[in-house]
Amino acid sequence: MRGRVRPPGDKSISHRYALLSALADGTSVIGGYSTGGDCQSTLVCLRALGVTVTQTARAPEGLEFAVEGRGLGGLTAPSARLDAGNSGSTMRMLAGVLAAHGFTSSMTGDESLQRRPMKRVIAPLERMGARFESLDGRPPLVIHGTARPVPIDFEPDVPSAQVKSAVLLAGLHAEGVTRVRERTATRDHTERALAAFGVAVGRDGQAVSLQGRQRLTAGRLSVPGDISSAAFWMAAAASLSGSEIVISHVGLNPSRTGIVEILRRMGAAVVIDGDDHGDGEPVGTITVRHEGLRSTEIAPGEVPGVIDELPVLGALATHGGELRVTGAAELRVKESDRISALADGIRRMGGEIEEFPDGFHVCGRERLRGGEVDARHDHRLAMAFAIAALGASGPTVIHDAGAAAVSYPEFFSVLESLRA
Ligand code: S3P
Repeated sequence: MRGRVRPPGDKSISHRYALLSALADGTSVIGGYSTGGDCQSTLVCLRALGVTVTQTARAPEGLEFAVEGRGLGGLTAPSARLDAGNSGSTMRMLAGVLAAHGFTSSMTGDESLQRRPMKRVIAPLERMGARFESLDGRPPLVIHGTARPVPIDFEPDVPSAQVKSAVLLAGLHAEGVTRVRERTATRDHTERALAAFGVAVGRDGQAVSLQGRQRLTAGRLSVPGDISSAAFWMAAAASLSGSEIVISHVGLNPSRTGIVEILRRMGAAVVIDGDDHGDGEPVGTITVRHEGLRSTEIAPGEVPGVIDELPVLGALATHGGELRVTGAAELRVKESDRISALADGIRRMGGEIEEFPDGFHVCGRERLRGGEVDARHDHRLAMAFAIAALGASGPTVIHDAGAAAVSYPEFFSVLESLRA
């Protein structure tokens, strides 16, 4: 595998820029917006809430949208149920915004999203004054929002950037200071995005706070490439001898670069060149070269920093070395049960993997033979299986491979272009 790629716009950052643009005063222009289905779901929901969103360009580096902000608290009641598609980020973060609007709305998603836990956002948002109806904490959600949310001081039980963000977004509409104290730090894109829109955000260790009712200023924003999409090329380069891939314009936010350290421990050569800072998010180039594979462990404390990369790291370990992951029970409530789906796929390809309630252990002792695997409607599994399949002696068929479009519609054509 050899070549140069520019990954699609970061999914996490695209969602946040879209949501904050909708709440800002004035029109924002967002460049490099993710081409993935999830980020389209956020735009679909915002349009249904009265926001005018116009596509202004489609460049190789991503989509560009103009979003006419409605001002803080300015969304309008939707006339139909909102559809977040496959996107947990859309549902959880938008729930925070809608909890702080004085109307009732409802939101659902596809089969996968309807299985995902929402109590983690419902509980704090109810403390802030909203009322929710759900199917025992799962979607569809009915959100009875309040125009006068109360600020809270909140310590989440699960490390989740989506939960932190939902509370901060509701707190933005409240009179007073809202604070989220995290025991384990999670990605800080919301904090950085708020600052890019002119909001003063307090950060003290792992506590984040903001004074509500600050107005957001629209602007021009540029989304860096998604390191979680880049991760597939990083793993591809690390997996096969003679491989080297250069990934340009990729986001290097320290809360997302955990994979770099893990790839190095697994034996890959990784070089990083930071170039510029776009809107408070560091950006640069990552080059990965194969240098053999070694065994490593990912400890529970490292998990939040690589949560989305664990399937592809498991796939990489099928090429050699061993990988043991613990403290990652959250994987079971992602777009699929990623522990069971990964184990099933790797076994079907002839690999050796042990499953734990909170993780897995892959032994890349023997070469995979390939086989038929099921991505279970999960984009990251579709792509992870492709990376595992590169090392197999025979062909692999990935059912539901189209799921990749949720975050990376161009994935399979880029894969083809990188074959040396
Ligand atoms: C995300 C946070 C993580 C991550 C997801 C995107 C975000 O989820 O897995 O893909 O954009 O905040 P959790 O907040 O559930 O950990």
